[in-house]
Amino acid sequence: MTPTKLKKALFDSMEESINNILSGPSNTEEKLQKISTLLKEKIPHYHWVGFYLVHKENPKELVLGPFKGDPTDHVRIPFGRGICGQAAERKETFMIQDVSKETNYLSCSPEVKSEIVVPIMKDDKIVGELDIDSHDISPFTEEDESFLKKICDLISGLF
Ligand code: SME
Repeated sequence: MTPTKLKKALFDSMEESINNILSGPSNTEEKLQKISTLLKEKIPHYHWVGFYLVHKENPKELVLGPFKGDPTDHVRIPFGRGICGQAAERKETFMIQDVSKETNYLSCSPEVKSEIVVPIMKDDKIVGELDIDSHDISPFTEEDESFLKKICDLISGLF
């Protein structure tokens, strides 16, 4: 199998596991925790996986939700700041293959080399986002993007 086909096969099997988590009995926080853990453990180039949720009282701020990986200082992020804040403001996926080239970037650890952030939308409003850091440069492809967008669509059903 080519690397692209292998990646697709891995993502297809993950999608099934994520559907199982989402339809299970846990509450939303537990489900997001399980999904973070699963993605980090099964996908070799995902080194930190977590969710930022839009603050209920301050809808222009993100608050760190469940995550798997090293603790981060960035527990609250205003819209517009860093990759996460920009993705929230623009309601767009940001796929950054080399974070050293970014000026509006919030570093969590010098090991992180790349990042992808996918908004979770509910009725045209952003409710949160899925944030993934990698220690590799340029690890993300369009397969990652479409897989993560599909997952975020499924997760939006929790909100
Ligand atoms: N690097 C992010 C901050 C969050 S951490 O990756 C966990 C950013 O620039 O928004």
